[in-house]
Amino acid sequence: MKEKLLAIEAALDSEIALVADNEGIEALRVKYLGKKGELTAILRSMGSLSAEERPVMGKLVNEVRASIEAKIGAKKEILAQEGLAKKLLDEAIDVTAPASIRTLGSRHPIAAVTEELENIFIGMGFDVADGPEVEYDYYNFEALNTPEGHPARDAQDTFYINSKVLLRSQTSTVQVRTMEKQKPPIRIISPGRVYRSDAVDATHSPMFHQMEGLVVDKGITMGDLKGTLELFAKTLFGEDTRIRFRPHHFPFTEPSAEVDISCFMCGGKGCSLCKKEGWIEILGAGMVHPNVLRGCGIDPEEYSGFAFGMGIERIVMKKYGITDMRLLYENDVRFLKQFN
Ligand code: DAH
Repeated sequence: MKEKLLAIEAALDSEIALVADNEGIEALRVKYLGKKGELTAILRSMGSLSAEERPVMGKLVNEVRASIEAKIGAKKEILAQEGLAKKLLDEAIDVTAPASIRTLGSRHPIAAVTEELENIFIGMGFDVADGPEVEYDYYNFEALNTPEGHPARDAQDTFYINSKVLLRSQTSTVQVRTMEKQKPPIRIISPGRVYRSDAVDATHSPMFHQMEGLVVDKGITMGDLKGTLELFAKTLFGEDTRIRFRPHHFPFTEPSAEVDISCFMCGGKGCSLCKKEGWIEILGAGMVHPNVLRGCGIDPEEYSGFAFGMGIERIVMKKYGITDMRLLYENDVRFLKQFN
């Protein structure tokens, strides 16, 4: 029986060396120490021993059991430590690995320039007003002294929702909406989207952006308009910039003008940017027509005003030397990220 006990312990020694995980060690525990295990079998057979042999063998069985328990316990401990070491290794952060690059977006050039324009006029005391893009024919044409059948409507052919409602073709609508709500003095700008049924090409889009300006007060003159636009042009394009007024016609201003700035690339000598003209047209402007003031309940005998409207894409394109307007709407990141 003693030999049998020693053989069991020796067998355990060789088996335990091969165990590599918790399941393996648990199987060994059951095999050697469990109810149906080898030691239990020996304990059961002790009844056949003599009264002298029994306590001696009992002591030996207990010693072997304790030794086996200790060996299994020690192996468990080793396995736990190996597991922890492996986990630490697996979860370690390799600080030398290259970082994953997060690309930051950038502001769209139209949004950036719009904000720049706004800031220039806010600095001169203007408020920023807003108006709807889906608009009544009344605000887009009628109240701007452009009744049905007026030839100026053709040039701004837009998208009609029905005979009275359309997508606005100009931000000038906000002039009327502002004057209806607010008594002079009025000093507002209003940037936003406008629509025209134009086919897409390098300089046209059925949707583009404009910024309107309106000043109404007592004693406002063309001199105020000129001074305001000159300061605007110098702030945006540089101190040496000059402006030029060319007579023009808009139904809602009288007199009306188209306004050019001296080319900021060549200073007026003529280059590819200004198409050898020396001047770049940037906006339309004029003194608010008495009919428009009257229609909004403002007495043209008491008040006068000036207005102007500019295309934002045009300014963006000139400023950054962009020759194809479509680039502004394609949202190709290779194009957009240049404006970071
Ligand atoms: N609304 C005009 C257009 O889209 C631009 C314009 C011209 C606006 C003269 C004005 C102005 O306020 O006074 O062509």
